[in-house]
Amino acid sequence: MTAHLIDGKKFATSLADKIAASVSIIKNTYQVTPCLAVVLVGTDPASQVYVRNKGQQTRAAGMTSIEHKLPSTASEAQLLALIDSMNKDEAIDGILIQLPLPEQINEASVIQAIAPEKDVDGFHVVNAGLLATGHRGLVPCTPLGCLLLLQDHLGDLSGANAVVLGRSNIVGKPMAQLLTAAHTTTTIAHSRSCDLPKICKQADILVVAVGNPEMVTGDWIKPGATVIDVGINRVANPTGTDRDYRLTGDVDFVSAASVAGAITPVPGGVGPMTIACLLRNTLIAGCRRRNIELDGY
Ligand code: GUN
Repeated sequence: MTAHLIDGKKFATSLADKIAASVSIIKNTYQVTPCLAVVLVGTDPASQVYVRNKGQQTRAAGMTSIEHKLPSTASEAQLLALIDSMNKDEAIDGILIQLPLPEQINEASVIQAIAPEKDVDGFHVVNAGLLATGHRGLVPCTPLGCLLLLQDHLGDLSGANAVVLGRSNIVGKPMAQLLTAAHTTTTIAHSRSCDLPKICKQADILVVAVGNPEMVTGDWIKPGATVIDVGINRVANPTGTDRDYRLTGDVDFVSAASVAGAITPVPGGVGPMTIACLLRNTLIAGCRRRNIELDGY
């Protein structure tokens, strides 16, 4: 391995510490405690873990955490009624509906029902439009975390060739918007793109968010490039080892790290940044709603 390891866990810890310090100042100065409400519908094990972690880290940052748990049989109308009451609740600054939702509930309808100023996921079309047009809104947490890691490692990104592999509304598209706003020349590539290895090999910055374990190998990577691996995939572990699965990214770490200049590991790269950016968005939403000035974010 020759690549520098980008330590997302360390960066996320220092961001969470900075947020906790800001929360403490806001509490003391304005007697306001930012509040995040998270809704879990059903019993998906991975979602349960995410929601528990979000609650723990929200409280650790000094903010109020509210959790609503609905049964997997809940109707769309029930969830929409809950969102309506949270939109109207002055004490709630951020609303997050954990995805995926059971099949009887339309995800898009639910996301669009959240008040845009409380949409700490940044998924509402108003926030997507604000990002696309260079206006201030709430930015999706995972791509924001990737941008912060890139800027911390590289400084000014101006003029770099950035390739985003993946075009989801949650990661790929907002990532490309953020990179473009940071003055990179940005390409979005996806499963129908012709000659993906060739496109990737032109990237000074390569962000991979495809959900396909170890798809990107070292021979796709420009020597010295910075590689951000958004994937978190469970793959089978050989029998006889301690666990029946291991976590791996969308990038084949060993071959990529022998070519790249810098790379994020999985786990410990982008993953921890997502929750840290959720705390950041909750703090920002709480301050904007109350016209409280907040510097440094
Ligand atoms: N499920 C997996 N990732 C996410 C996320 O970033 N936000 C929400 N709401 N649900 C998710």
